[in-house]
Amino acid sequence: MHQQREHFGSRFAVIMALAGSAVGLGNIWRFPYMVGRHGGGAFIIVYIVCSLLVSLPVFFAEGILGKSTRLNTLGAIKKVAPKWRWAGYMGILAAFVITSYYSVVGGWSLDYFIRSVSGGFKGLSMEASAGIFSRMTSSAWETLVSFFGFLLLSAMVVAAGVEKGIGRFSKLMMPLLFFMIVLIVVKSLSLPGAKQGMDYLLKPDFSKLDGPAIAAALGQSFFSLSLGVGCVLTYSSYMKSDGKIFQTGLWTALFDTIFALMAGFAIMPAVFSVEGLEPSAGPSLVYETLPVIFSQMGVLVPVIFFLAVLIAAFTSSISMYEVVVAWLVDEKKMPRPRAVLLVFVAAAALGTVCALVPAVFNACDFSTSNIFMTLGALIFVIIVGWCMPSHIARDTFDGKAWPVVHFLIKWIAPVAIAAIAVTNLL
Ligand code: TRP
Repeated sequence: MHQQREHFGSRFAVIMALAGSAVGLGNIWRFPYMVGRHGGGAFIIVYIVCSLLVSLPVFFAEGILGKSTRLNTLGAIKKVAPKWRWAGYMGILAAFVITSYYSVVGGWSLDYFIRSVSGGFKGLSMEASAGIFSRMTSSAWETLVSFFGFLLLSAMVVAAGVEKGIGRFSKLMMPLLFFMIVLIVVKSLSLPGAKQGMDYLLKPDFSKLDGPAIAAALGQSFFSLSLGVGCVLTYSSYMKSDGKIFQTGLWTALFDTIFALMAGFAIMPAVFSVEGLEPSAGPSLVYETLPVIFSQMGVLVPVIFFLAVLIAAFTSSISMYEVVVAWLVDEKKMPRPRAVLLVFVAAAALGTVCALVPAVFNACDFSTSNIFMTLGALIFVIIVGWCMPSHIARDTFDGKAWPVVHFLIKWIAPVAIAAIAVTNLL
């Protein structure tokens, strides 16, 4: 029996779903720290230039591949450039690996949200907070329960379908997320550390802009826009034919960048309001420092903050989940519920190993963000720039900016990505 392929109900749903994929833990715990470390406002400028010249063209290339073929990552590549099909398998594998380890961290945010609701952060000291975090991560039981909880919730949304699950959920959650982060920013800017925090983020220091800083800006922009593994490709394959790739990309990048900056404005003033505290990246910032500071600002602040972290992580996680599910549904002709179940079982297995063995967690993170994503992004622009008949690409893109975008996809993006990849390897 031939079933019609699913699609998103509206352009708004597509943009909210893609923004949901883009806005995630990368915005909250990597971006603010990277900006501060690599020269503040100067880094932000480089980040925006990288996004416009390289990341957005990759986004458009994925969008064109998805929308023109209406297929999953592997199916789209097989159809347009069969000799690159291995890259399709690589993308799906990468999406699967990211789903697994990202959900472990997503589980922490679920754990912290529940903790904040039950008042677990009241009168918290720095030592006590570090203790809570290390107990959580070293307790196999607690880590696994929250990981399974998070993965199960993702599975439920994905199982509900493209529009009824992912689309509806994103349309509801993304505006709510935005509203919550605005509340925290307003609260945070009233703290004594506001000026220092803003200086840390915005004051440009061009002397810190070296090669590694530029490579970091591009890498962060790729990760943040969910590029290189087929998330954008898969979601774009569910666009209706009147969907606009150009506008969708611009809105997603705009939303993503604004959210990253706001996360910085929410977090850094809070960090600097405590004497002697230095910002750090990653889990210790979000899960050790912030609960202490936010809990001093009232019971509601930590609840709102950790709900925001949870939603951000969750909408990103479902986008990777869907990449794998779309492949099983299109290529293996599996009914959606069975595909969702299969991915659940496999990701639960890999995620359990990630949760229990830090070396595996790090290997998954390193290989996907440094190798698979970059290589995947490079191949997507090569396929659209060089293998796909250019009138098909142009008609699918359907926008006045095509000549510029085509040039960026064909020449600038591949050269820049290859240059960065080589610099990273040296
Ligand atoms: N962009 C998300 C974040 O900032 C993470 C993410 C979702 C992602 N899908 C991806 C990263 C695909 C790489 C590839 O947290």
